[in-house]
Amino acid sequence: MQVFETIGAFRAARVAYPTLGFVPTMGFLHEGHLGLVRRAKAENGAVAVSIFVNPTQFGPNEDYASYPRDPERDLALLKEAGADLVFLPTPDVLYPPGSATRIEVGGVADELEGQSRPGHFSGVATVVTKLFNIVQPQRAYFGQKDAQQCAVVRRFVADLDIPVEIVVCEIAREADGLARSSRNVRLTAENRQKASALFQALQEAEQLFSSGERDTDVLENAMRIVLTKTGLPDIDYATVVNAETFRREEPCSDNAVALLAVQAGAVRLIDNMPL
Ligand code: PAF
Repeated sequence: MQVFETIGAFRAARVAYPTLGFVPTMGFLHEGHLGLVRRAKAENGAVAVSIFVNPTQFGPNEDYASYPRDPERDLALLKEAGADLVFLPTPDVLYPPGSATRIEVGGVADELEGQSRPGHFSGVATVVTKLFNIVQPQRAYFGQKDAQQCAVVRRFVADLDIPVEIVVCEIAREADGLARSSRNVRLTAENRQKASALFQALQEAEQLFSSGERDTDVLENAMRIVLTKTGLPDIDYATVVNAETFRREEPCSDNAVALLAVQAGAVRLIDNMPL
């Protein structure tokens, strides 16, 4: 496994690989990331991983400074998972002085996370486009946990004619259903216990939907009740939207996804379930 901090050095090594899968990450890797790495390796023969906590996708009052970081541990895990190339830039490598270009995505990026975290998807689209230009993969792998991010990436890849196939992989969950996330380590013991309620709330919506319920209000209320009863009343959204547009519809369409964003102490948790 080779590790590079500069664009030039990464590009020089990249030419040795005719096909390359790519997993962009913000580090502090968990089983969800490692599953993406293993799949990318199996489907492409070689895999590149980036580790970069991207400042432009965090709002001024968000957790950029406290986002967990442990590059040494990450590199050991990546070696074991079979990564070939790792790109580990510092912020001034990707955003040198004078850098002034941002990518703005409309439509699907305007809803939900787009409302709660203004500028977030612009930061994601900008950094992912830069990483695609540097890594030049055939395929890139993302986790379904960030369902809206996946839809935004698909949108700008299509709109900007970027020749990268986007592969979305299932959510990796803990034994109690909590979606794996680098931020989970920052949960207090009490909130960690409560956090499995997100999965229970999504399952509740799933069961109602499977038995024919299409009233969006009813599905949303059912999720809110589970969350509130478990002691997670600080709900940013608990909603059911069209899986293509991320717009709320009443009644909801057959192609729907239930999505949650909940504040658990200092940690904002998101999760979703296609219905
Ligand atoms: O999902 C993430 O970890 C980040 O949003 C990504 C795609 C690596 C861009 O910084």
